[in-house]
Amino acid sequence: MNLDIDIEKKVEKLLKKMTLEEKIGQMNQYNGSWDVTGPAPDGNNREKYDQLKSGMVGSMLNVVGANAVREAQKLAVENSRLGIPLIFGYDVIHGFQTIFPVPLGESASWDLEAIELSAKVAAKESSASGISWTFAPMVDINRDARWGRVMEGAGEDPYLGSKIAVARVNGFQGNDLSDGESIAACAKHFAAYGFAESGRDYNTADVGEHTLRNVILPPFKACIDAGVATVMNAFNEIGGIPATGNKYLQRDILKEEWGFDGFVISDWGSIGEMIAHGYSKDCMQASEQAVNAGSDMDMESYCYINSLKQLVEEGKVEESTIDDAVRRILRVKYKLGLFENPYLYCDLEREKTDVYSKENLEIARDVARKSIVLLKNEMDILPLKKSGKKIAVIGPLGNHKDAPLGSWRAKAIENSAVSLLEGIKNKVGEDVEVKYAQGCGLSQGKRNFLFEVDLIEEDKSGFAEAKKLAVESDVVIMALGEDCWQTGEGRSQTEIGLPGSQMDLLKEIHKINKNIVIVLMNGRPLTLNWEEENVPAIVETWQLGSEAGNAIADVLFGDYNPSGKLPVSFPRAVGQLPLYYNYKNTGRPDKHPEGMVFWSHFTDEENTPLYPFGYGLSYSKFDYSKPTISSNNMSMNGSVKISVEVSNKGAVDGAEVVQLYIRDLIGTITRPVKELKGFEKVQIKAGETKTVSFELKQEDLAFYGADGTFKAEEGDFEVFVGGNSRDVQKMTFSLK
Ligand code: NOJ
Repeated sequence: MNLDIDIEKKVEKLLKKMTLEEKIGQMNQYNGSWDVTGPAPDGNNREKYDQLKSGMVGSMLNVVGANAVREAQKLAVENSRLGIPLIFGYDVIHGFQTIFPVPLGESASWDLEAIELSAKVAAKESSASGISWTFAPMVDINRDARWGRVMEGAGEDPYLGSKIAVARVNGFQGNDLSDGESIAACAKHFAAYGFAESGRDYNTADVGEHTLRNVILPPFKACIDAGVATVMNAFNEIGGIPATGNKYLQRDILKEEWGFDGFVISDWGSIGEMIAHGYSKDCMQASEQAVNAGSDMDMESYCYINSLKQLVEEGKVEESTIDDAVRRILRVKYKLGLFENPYLYCDLEREKTDVYSKENLEIARDVARKSIVLLKNEMDILPLKKSGKKIAVIGPLGNHKDAPLGSWRAKAIENSAVSLLEGIKNKVGEDVEVKYAQGCGLSQGKRNFLFEVDLIEEDKSGFAEAKKLAVESDVVIMALGEDCWQTGEGRSQTEIGLPGSQMDLLKEIHKINKNIVIVLMNGRPLTLNWEEENVPAIVETWQLGSEAGNAIADVLFGDYNPSGKLPVSFPRAVGQLPLYYNYKNTGRPDKHPEGMVFWSHFTDEENTPLYPFGYGLSYSKFDYSKPTISSNNMSMNGSVKISVEVSNKGAVDGAEVVQLYIRDLIGTITRPVKELKGFEKVQIKAGETKTVSFELKQEDLAFYGADGTFKAEEGDFEVFVGGNSRDVQKMTFSLK
């Protein structure tokens, strides 16, 4: 906790002036569901409107635009007794209007500077447009690709996830929250939302203390240490208690143990949802449980505003609990400079110049190409030549200008992404003949949050045209994958292969022309067994945002050498899920010596992923020397240094993510077979060799063990170095 004395004094002074009602008002957040720039609304919204004017609202979400925010802010500041400014929140998840790769894709860059920069640009744009608070980053670890929100996080690993979480917080919040171009970040969803059973969104999470502490919480803790201003709790229950009403999580761990001084916002309606969970009998009880558990602000469940006063009067909630929540909220508002200038984030001029600028789009293109992962490249099919060839682009995503924008697209302009076809044409000009056939449809019906995506299953109407084009072409780029509305909130699936008729289309084209490069666009790991077996090149491009097509063309034609690595394992079959590289060994890890079935496996599929965590190819070829370790013994206060030489044996310059994993062989609780503990993305010129070194210290080996404390345990360790979690070289040392 690092409090600013000056701000604390101001907070206390203001708090003393506030009535109980005004305090409760600060804990109330409403959705902006009417045109704030228009006349006063009717009905339900009229009540909200009046409450805004009387200081009964502390925050609004989804009111966006310098003008709209100014109007709403005016209502609060100019009419309420104390003129306390509102804080305006919005889901700026991967860009505001300039759209960056979906967070999972961006995480594949393993490039912390690029990730920080993308958050910084998003903050710059949104802060010009009224927004001072984003509900990001989502730092939920997830091991199950069926979960639609896997696209919104950094994947399956707590170490990588923590580094990326911090980069995002730093990018959003900058060095000074009141500089006008930075916004408050929000680590979400606290906690275990990514562990929803079977990947079904909002489902129960049932994890033990050890998984909670060692896997789920580290990215949150990293955000707190980085000074994140807010935390959002979660929809799920954990251990039988909804996260929103969970005192152990919010008060004991977050606020007491970690010293978090910002505030906790509920997820949308999650206080009221504790009734459906079967934890609260009504809003009154839900409010009591949530506030006492440490939820400071109520997003849209209307519970706090309608019950906290009575709860305080009845002695069920201490006024000091309310004061604590309000203090936290006011603190963030002061830090954002909102008291000094409530309109700091409503700069009409800056909104014109800073949003969707050429400069921001260029940054988005660079981050996008860094996020691309080359999964397969045989017969040197890639990179493609910029002249003399006939290129076919086939598939429902080939000329899609909307799907690359992803489902958390903030203020993106619909259909504004550079499509793959456009990107290729921009790249090759007139020298190459590029033709497009859609082949089959992607999805139909309305594509947004309100409706299920309706896949076009039987649509084969375009096959004939696509086949004809494939016959005439030298290379076929198949643009396949998911509609962006297949991932995101409420978008869980039981199948994760290529949807609709796409697989059939691919097989038909493959019969005609084997020179296929699959360009995948998707928000979750997909099962790609047939593709891996039959197609020479596969390029994972996720949903890359505004500059998608240009970024992909940069990679396809070798202007950018792919350097991304998977932040999640790609399964062979949906039945393997949850699947993750840092699994436990079990008591029966190995094939039975007499060939019997009694070992931990599937009888119809391998245990291993198709593409492991950390995997990704390059147009360069990186050779690893035998790594060295400074000593085979490490004392508790000492360290070991691990070094490896990485040579670029290819013909082009490239970047490699060198990865370091450990295994703690025996623990008071069992330890994973591998745990990432370091990585470095190094640029290595063709023919050059670079030495990469890592240092392991006590804290790198520490975990929450059987006695609940975070410490390293003496014993033997394995340490692995390599370019992905599977292909590694092993060494050993002992901690004494
Ligand atoms: C619900 C989502 O779970 C959360 O992540 C988001 O920030 C809120 N809705 C607000 O849109």
